[in-house]
Amino acid sequence: MARITAGVTSSHVPAVGAALDLGKTADPYWQPLFAGFEASKRWMAEHTPDVVVLVYNDHASAFSLEVVPTFAIGCAASFPPADEGWGPRPVPVVEGHPELAWHIAQSTILDEFDMTIVNRMDVDHGLTVPLSLMFGQPARWPCKVIPLAVNVVQYPPPTGNRCFQLGKAIRRAVESFDADLDVQVWGTGGMSHQLQGPRAGLINREFDTMFLDRLVADPEGLAQLPHVDYVREAGSEGIELVMWLIMRGALAPDAREVYRFYHVPASNTAVGHLILENPT
Ligand code: DHB
Ligand code: FE
Repeated sequence: MARITAGVTSSHVPAVGAALDLGKTADPYWQPLFAGFEASKRWMAEHTPDVVVLVYNDHASAFSLEVVPTFAIGCAASFPPADEGWGPRPVPVVEGHPELAWHIAQSTILDEFDMTIVNRMDVDHGLTVPLSLMFGQPARWPCKVIPLAVNVVQYPPPTGNRCFQLGKAIRRAVESFDADLDVQVWGTGGMSHQLQGPRAGLINREFDTMFLDRLVADPEGLAQLPHVDYVREAGSEGIELVMWLIMRGALAPDAREVYRFYHVPASNTAVGHLILENPT
């Protein structure tokens, strides 16, 4: 059977992708950020999965604001990088895993999560920046990726608890897929950031540290946090953090923290990153 071996969380700041693509990773501003992901790339080289279920949000790139699915799973064979206004990122096309994606769609929908099925989709910085941070700049991504897009752009987003429960349903789905596959689940976005209005630039290290600690040790409790607390404490875009609870729900309650990194500044965002391993 397929199994979930590990989970990763990471912010997805678009300027991080631009810094990589334009060869600026050694600039004094960016160097400490990329240095924090060196250990992650080493870990990943030893733990490259067959498939990543990559939870992210589309930023009005694939869906526009005409149709906003709450949860959408990419079942296509491939997903090109999106043109977000300055041409697509020069990164490899993302290869999907249609068989596992359709199985997760079937399993979660019959488990009463109303997934939208997506058969064609471009993927934006929300998905490609975490891939770059974890894999660097390879000619091909070293594993298949199933995009799972969550609405955190248009009110109302799903609750933290709904996300946590969806993670558990994804675990049931993966563990009932009859193939010997090593699967990771990634949750992206966050941490504290607000991109507009009088509070633009808001960073809240105390909240972010609490979120990292409780995501590891008390995810059931953390899943009860209401939306208003995310927005007040972590800024309007801090709501992206509900996606991290999907990753956490997909892992075992006693999953082990093997790496943590937190860094400010990176554009307007506090960059947070965790690697969790499931017990073997
Ligand atoms: C920034 C962060 C995001 O998560 C995003 O989607 C866009 C911009 C930023 O910090 O600039
Ligand atoms: Fe974002």
